[in-house]
Order: sequence, then structure tokens, then C-alpha cells
Amino acid sequence: MMYDLIVIGGGPGGYLAAERAGGAGLSVLLIEKNKIGGVCLNEGCVPSKTLLNSAKIFDYATHGQKYGITTEHATIDQATVIARKDKVVRNLVAGVKATLKKNKVTIQDGFGQILGRENGVIKIGVGEQVFESRQLILATGSEAVVPPISGVKEGLADGSVLTNREILNLTTIPESLVVIGGGVIGLEMASYYQTVGSQVTVIEMLDHIAGNADRDLSAILQKNFEKKGIAFHLNAQVTAVGNGQVTFTQGDAIKTAPAVKTLLSVGRRPVTSGIGLEAIGVYTERGRIITDAQGRTNIPGIYAIGDANGVWMLAHAAYREAEVAVNTILGKKDTMRYSAMPSVLYTSPEMAFVGETEETAKAKGFVYQKVELPMNYSGRYMAENEGGDGLIKLLIDPVRNRIVGCHVLGNYASEIILSAGILVETEMRLEAIKELIFPHPTVGEVIREAIFHA
Ligand code: FAD
Ligand code: NAI
Repeated sequence: MMYDLIVIGGGPGGYLAAERAGGAGLSVLLIEKNKIGGVCLNEGCVPSKTLLNSAKIFDYATHGQKYGITTEHATIDQATVIARKDKVVRNLVAGVKATLKKNKVTIQDGFGQILGRENGVIKIGVGEQVFESRQLILATGSEAVVPPISGVKEGLADGSVLTNREILNLTTIPESLVVIGGGVIGLEMASYYQTVGSQVTVIEMLDHIAGNADRDLSAILQKNFEKKGIAFHLNAQVTAVGNGQVTFTQGDAIKTAPAVKTLLSVGRRPVTSGIGLEAIGVYTERGRIITDAQGRTNIPGIYAIGDANGVWMLAHAAYREAEVAVNTILGKKDTMRYSAMPSVLYTSPEMAFVGETEETAKAKGFVYQKVELPMNYSGRYMAENEGGDGLIKLLIDPVRNRIVGCHVLGNYASEIILSAGILVETEMRLEAIKELIFPHPTVGEVIREAIFHA
């Protein structure tokens, strides 16, 4: 059967591409081997944020005294938390399926594979069936990296070692949890499990947590976590997992940490093997499919979006890449721009950033002015965060007089980073930003305040 467009992979990238293309009148086949919604809806963004919200409520219940509230015997029922998460996921997946149907997208269950390409027609196999199209979008996503550490294979088999998939389904709270990798997944899960009662240890091979986040802010975040009881071991190498502990080296010392459960969160890699890329010569580099700013691969008619191209492994990157690829297919001019890609850690406190960091600015030889302000400059932040030590850091281009980077540590960072992203993307001049009216009292006002300190 011939379609205008075939999409392989029904995660945020794939389902949005299918929706947009179907909505524009193309006949679209969407192939999904597992669950519509992909990693983000089923075992990533949405489940983790649902759990973190329960942790926030539990934290208020158990530490509400400073706000004048005492709750006796607050408990958290992990099985109910997981059941609610499942309900949220079910509803969202149903919503995506309904939207696909409304846009007349045909969904095909099964593993999609490129069989060949002749005279511009691409053949895709799903089991015994063969489908054809002149346009193909690969949106096959990513999977957790499993490092070759002694005991990991056995631990994954007996359930003591977990990836993001299993940790979001635990119906009991482990007495102790070791998180290998202090990046985004590791810190969000450390934040959740520490709040609900686990003894959490984070082991990170670098000298800082939170990857490419601003170093000053990630150091404060680490201190916040340490105050709550999370133990961090930086510059550390895990050597073995098993028998209820994780063994690691730090310098010359050999150390252990208690681990009823161990989470692997050392990064993700694109899922691109076994889908027939070699058959027609699609270029890849260490598993990621190489694309241009329209999502085109080196083979005409074949696009790759989302985690599969590995540019930014974020759902909102996948969404926008989906739109750019579909617009290109439709003959509309569109280009992917990554300079204002927001990143968020939904930890407690939250951390979010957009644009240049001091490290990237220095590496590019940019001259920048730095403005740092405690979040306490926002009345609403003060009202809602007793004892909070949040910080906003703006990086300003003093020549062009505009914001090139914004880094926020403190609750609502996830929400206010959008406005900072708009200012970075639109290159709005500081004088013009000063004339904008921010609602009062909001945490976002801290951006305006920081600009007046520039
Ligand atoms: P995926 O969501 O991985 O979907 C790919 C789909 O393709 C899957 O459903 C898979 O089954 C299917 N597939 C693969 N191969 C085939 C094949 N051959 N045939 C048929 N189907 C196939 N990002 C954010 O922006 N915000 C967050 O808060 C956030 N939280 C996260 C939390 C966790 C724990 C994790 C793991 C990730 C999180 N992410 C978050 C990242 C986000 O989930 C991904 O960036 C996003 O899912 C990528 O979308 P995608 O469509 O490229 O791929
Ligand atoms: P990550 O790349 O964010 O972090 C991995 C961390 O593990 C790094 O700090 C790295 O130095 C460390 N590491 C690597 N090997 C190690 C080893 N052997 N021992 C100890 N430390 C080791 O990867 P993560 O957390 O797995 O997340 C994958 C991706 O998923 C993220 O990069 C992000 O794109 C996406 N994601 C986004 C979220 C969000 O937007 N809120 C939430 C969760 C995931």
C-alpha cells in the first residue's frame, strides 16, 4: 500500500509529525512497535513528573511546620502513586490516539524496517506486510545506556538494577538507592526517592552534577540535596554492583554504598540499529542519524527527528523537529534553530536554563556581562519558598544589548524559563524588555529585576 508519508516510531517526534502531516491532508502511516506516546509519555517525561508532584505534596505534608501547618503521620503510598501515574499516562496516550484518528493517521502495530529504495519509492516492512512511500520520517527514539559494570547484567535480570523504565514502576520504596550518573534522570529520581524515604547515594564520574548546566547553580543544587540527606560521590568510578551494595573507586580509595536498588542513568543512545539504515546507506555517527537543519538525511525523502538524530534528547526538541520536517515535506520553508532550547530539571528545587552558559560563551570567545540575583528579589518566591536559596544568572551581550543565556535555580524555574527563552530567541533589546509589564507578584518578575541590575 502506498502512503504520502510513513513515520516509524510513535513517540513525541513521530506522533506529532504524523498529526501535522495528516492535518495537512497527507495520507500517513505511523508504525509503532510498542506503545503510542513513546518514552516520553510511557516511561519518561510524564511518569517522572507525576511521581515528582506526589513527592512535592508529601514534602509539604511532612515539612509544613514552617508554613504554619502540622500534619500528623503523613505517609506516602507508593502503589497509589504508581497507579495514579498509570492513569495519567493512559489518559494522555488516549488523547494522542484520538488526535491521530482525527487527523486520519493510520496506525500500524509492529517493528518497522527499511527494505529498500527504488526510483524514489521507499519500501518499509512490518512483519510480512510491505508499505511504500516517497517520504519517510525516522523517529525511533533512544534507550538507556547499560554500562559494562560487573553485576549489572545479573542485577537487571533479578530486578535490583533498574533503568528509567523500572524505577518509574516500583510499587515499594527501597530502603536504599544508588544512582549511577548524576545527570537529569539521576537527579530527578534522587529527588523523588530521597523525599519519599530512601537513603539515596549519587555516584558521578565527573567533578560536577547536572551535565551542561551552569556550574555555580548545579553546586548550589547539590548543596540543597546534601542538606536533605542525599550523598554525592563525584570523580568516582563504579566497579561492581551486587549483594546489596555498589562498589566504586574515588582516587585511590575503594568505597561502597548501600543499594537495595541501583538506578542506571548514565545517558541514552539513539535506537537506530536493525531498522535497515545500512541497506540504503543512511549516514550515522555513533548510532545517531545525521541530519541537516530541515531533518533531512543524506538519502532523499528520508528524515530523522527526535532522539534518533541525537542533537538534543528532549521531547520539545522532537516536537519542533517534527514540525520542521513535515513543513519541509510540504514544501514550506522552515529551519530548526537550537540556540534557545530550554532545559529543565524538575527536581526540588527546580533548575532550568536556556541559551549560553559561561562555559559555552567562553569557548566561543563571546564577551558577556553576568548578572546574578537571589530569587528572593521576587516577592512570590519569598512567600512560597521559606529558606530557599535560589539564584538567577543572566548572561548579557553588552554590545548587542540582549540576553544570551538565562539560568534559574528555584521553584517555578520550569515555567519562567519560557519567557527567558523568548527573549533569547527574539533577541529583544534590554531597553525594550524594561518596558514590558510583568504580572506582580510572580516569580518571573525576577527576570525583569535582574535586567535592571545589568
Ligand atoms: P521516543 O519517545 O523514544 O519514541 C520512539 C518510539 O519509536 C518508541 O515508542 C519506540 O517503541 C518506537 N520505535 C523504535 N524503533 C521502532 C521500529 N523499528 N518500529 C516501530 N517503532 C519503533 N524530555 C523532556 O523534554 N522533558 C522531560 O521532562 C523529560 N523527562 C524524561 C524522563 C525520563 C525518565 C526519560 C527517559 C526521558 C525524558 N525526556 C524528557 C526525554 C524524552 O522522553 C525524549 O526526548 C523523547 O521521548 C524523544 O521523543 P522521540 O519521539 O524522539 O522518541
Ligand atoms: P545525562 O547525560 O543527563 O547524564 C548522565 C550522567 O552520567 C552524566 O553526568 C555522566 O557524566 C554520568 N556518567 C556516565 N557514565 C558514568 C559512569 N560509568 N559512572 C558514573 N557516572 C557516569 O543522561 P540521563 O540522566 O541518563 O538522561 C538522558 C537524557 O534524557 C538527558 O540527557 C535528557 O536529554 C533526557 N531527559 C530529560 C529530562 C528533562 O528534560 N527534565 C529528564 C530526564 C531525561
